[in-house]
Amino acid sequence: MTVTASRFDRKDFDLYETPEWATEVLLRHVDVRGLRVWEPAAGNHKIADVLWAYGVDLIYSTDITRHDKAHSAIFDFLSVDYRSTQEIVPASPFDAIITNPPFGKGGRDAANFARLALERCDGIVALLLPDVFDFAKTRRDLFADNPRFTMKIQLLDRIQWFPGKYGNTQNHAWYVWTGDREAWAGPPTIVYEGKEPK
Ligand SMILES: C[S@@+](CC[C@H](N)C(=O)[O-])C[C@H]1O[C@@H](n2cnc3c(N)ncnc32)[C@H](O)[C@@H]1O
Repeated sequence: MTVTASRFDRKDFDLYETPEWATEVLLRHVDVRGLRVWEPAAGNHKIADVLWAYGVDLIYSTDITRHDKAHSAIFDFLSVDYRSTQEIVPASPFDAIITNPPFGKGGRDAANFARLALERCDGIVALLLPDVFDFAKTRRDLFADNPRFTMKIQLLDRIQWFPGKYGNTQNHAWYVWTGDREAWAGPPTIVYEGKEPK
């Protein structure tokens, strides 16, 4: 997932592994301890492992493919057949969906991931995406017009997806939706947060 994904071949189903610190930034603002969390684009569990160590009650990991680690199930999250979702995921609802979704051409996969995540989870949805992802008229339904959109956590440190001197860095943010914005804190909030806690 990256804003310049189109410059690269879409190898390995868009496997970009989230550095631990980026998930820790989310956890400084969203308390998921004791929650049942679905990681639907789990990759090599870089986000899932941090969530588990933090104290979630359950982490259910799915992905369209297996990379190095086994998932709870293989599942194409962009499959719109909701019945197939119900066959693959546990019957009781999740409290949160948290992931760094595949970006896809023009960010379309990421936007559809967001829409389906909001349909499939009534609680918290948190997605790590490029910092300009909300600047799109075609995504008003996700941000400007979405009463569940609660918080943007702007990462002050850039993420380097690949090591080495050719591994470019990019600005990202966590986009957070909750079940009910009223119960959260009024209008959406922007938070600026670096790798290290202040
Ligand atoms: C950007 S990586 C993120 C991996 C992991 N969440 C992390 O942060 O390290 C995106 C992941 O989405 C998976 N993926 C791609 N298309 C998918 C789909 N339609 N349904 C589910 N997973 C998909 C890829 O296999 C890859 O593991």
